Amino acid sequence: MKGVILAGGLGTRMNPLTKITNKHLLPVYDKPMIYYPLQALINAGIKDILIVTGGNYAGDFLRLIGNGHEFGLKHINYTYQEGEGGIAAALSLAEFFADKDKICVILGDNVIEQNIRAAVEAFSRQKAGAKIILKEVPDPQRFGVPVFEGDTIVRIEEKPKKPQSRYAVTGIYLYDNQVFDIIKVQKPSDRGELEITDVNNVYIEKGQLTWEVLKGWWTDAGTFESLLKASTLVAETGANKMD
Ligand code: G1P
Repeated sequence: MKGVILAGGLGTRMNPLTKITNKHLLPVYDKPMIYYPLQALINAGIKDILIVTGGNYAGDFLRLIGNGHEFGLKHINYTYQEGEGGIAAALSLAEFFADKDKICVILGDNVIEQNIRAAVEAFSRQKAGAKIILKEVPDPQRFGVPVFEGDTIVRIEEKPKKPQSRYAVTGIYLYDNQVFDIIKVQKPSDRGELEITDVNNVYIEKGQLTWEVLKGWWTDAGTFESLLKASTLVAETGANKMD
């Protein structure tokens, strides 16, 4: 399986921190934010990795990560997103890289405590479709939220005012190659983005979406509050534990 880290966008929610750098290069405790999703993929056994970035500071990713030697990689891939367009638009740039393989996608601002290797291995054995990773959170209205009937997810609602469950859909997604055709027929949402939630809902309609609940803590780091929370969690307990 190949790995894709989405680290584009202009990070306007975090101005002025993002006026002179990319959000994913901001510090989370003692490391740049992007180190955490990168290490998460590597710990899960994924070595073939693409970073999708964009904006004015894309060159800084190269200066920071280079060929990934610091992470034990021989090589790392980069691609450039012109403008914004949402998570699904950024992901569409990974089609050539995926080259029919399954992919594990992680948002560049997601930080986790525990290893996702088991979920990655389970998805390798899954015949087709997608898998999402859920986590119970105190503020689901900030995220994609699954709606359950029994143990089955019947749909995902993006940032619902009245969440139908206490789970967030984390920014860790496992997809087969259908994802790129699904993205091609998506239309922008009210916030002008191609939503990853719409893509996941297509997999639900096909009856091809599986899910797991993540062990250990999870947070995004894309708001001032969650950036502080991420730094505190990393400082107190450490991230990306091996098992
Ligand atoms: C995005 C997704 C949302 C998901 C979240 C995870 O939200 O749209 O479904 O729960 O990432 O971090 P955004 O960061 O665009 O607000």
